[in-house]
Amino acid sequence: MSADPLSLALAMPKAELHLHIEGTLEPDLAFALARRNGVTLPWPDEAALAAAYDFDSLQSFLDLYYTCAQVLQTRADFRDLMLAYLARAAADGVIHAEVFFDPQTHTARGVPFGTLLAGLEDGLAEGAARWGVSGRLILCFLRHLSEDEGFATLAEAEPYLERIHGFGLDSSERGHPPAKFARLFARCRALGKPVVAHAGEEGPPAYIAEALDVLGACRIDHGVRAVEDAALLARLAREGVPLTVCPLSNVRLRVFPAMVEHSLPRLLAAGAKVTINSDDPAYFGGYLGANIRAVQAAFQLDAAAWYRLARNSFEASLATDEEKAGWIARLDAHFAAAGVAPA
Ligand code: HPA
Ligand code: ZN
Repeated sequence: MSADPLSLALAMPKAELHLHIEGTLEPDLAFALARRNGVTLPWPDEAALAAAYDFDSLQSFLDLYYTCAQVLQTRADFRDLMLAYLARAAADGVIHAEVFFDPQTHTARGVPFGTLLAGLEDGLAEGAARWGVSGRLILCFLRHLSEDEGFATLAEAEPYLERIHGFGLDSSERGHPPAKFARLFARCRALGKPVVAHAGEEGPPAYIAEALDVLGACRIDHGVRAVEDAALLARLAREGVPLTVCPLSNVRLRVFPAMVEHSLPRLLAAGAKVTINSDDPAYFGGYLGANIRAVQAAFQLDAAAWYRLARNSFEASLATDEEKAGWIARLDAHFAAAGVAPA
């Protein structure tokens, strides 16, 4: 007796590697924090805010996302945000989350770096205690800002380095190639930290190669436009470069016109090390479980493919080999208990 692939995929233990904590701000929490902090949002109520989630590009989303982030002000706000995310992630079978945060969005408004970091860590600690979810923080630099502004943020982060697991690059991709941050990322790597970068979401496949070759990225966030360059796609597969793919995000931001046109099956067929993630789930129609349902409705993956995706999520994580082995053993046990031999 074997479970159907969708039930297996929803319940299997998994890691989430591409999640912006600011992108988990649901309309009800946004308005609750706005009231708590005396901030006026430019929408009359939650329904009006949710109705504004009609994006036609990455930039149209980012404009709204940065506006909503203004309600986040205190340590408790960041803790509440993280805890709300972890509750949902745990319900979707996430046992390890590598969470992006954008300090520049907050420090520019006067929120101290130490305050937002402490709040996010409060949430991670409480989430670990309540649901057993392991969590790590990845500091993302905003690529629409200058490299010098990135260096200023890195200087603010340096006293807290042992609490920051790695560094990433997000925000508006077009016109802001990875090479703009070559010196900054060299410095992050010199500090002994792994670096990742958004590339090949709206930007061209060449940005994926640049993120690897110039920034030294060990993982590419999105990377879905790699299918436009056969040599690059072959390289990603050969080198086992993880791609943190976010299916609902890509459809909501019109990277692909519909889920059935998403490059995910082509990436999998080429042997790329793909993982599935939710990106900004409050804005894009759902958390990891919703992404899994949408992928399954479009592509009817089999149990072996779902096993591979979950296994990739652990292998591609920034955790220790020992942690990875423990999680993969849990994944194998899940499939064995369902009567499905792992592929
Ligand atoms: N792309 C770039 N920047 C972002 C994203 C994204 O999907 N989400 C939050 N910041
Ligand atoms: Zn992202």
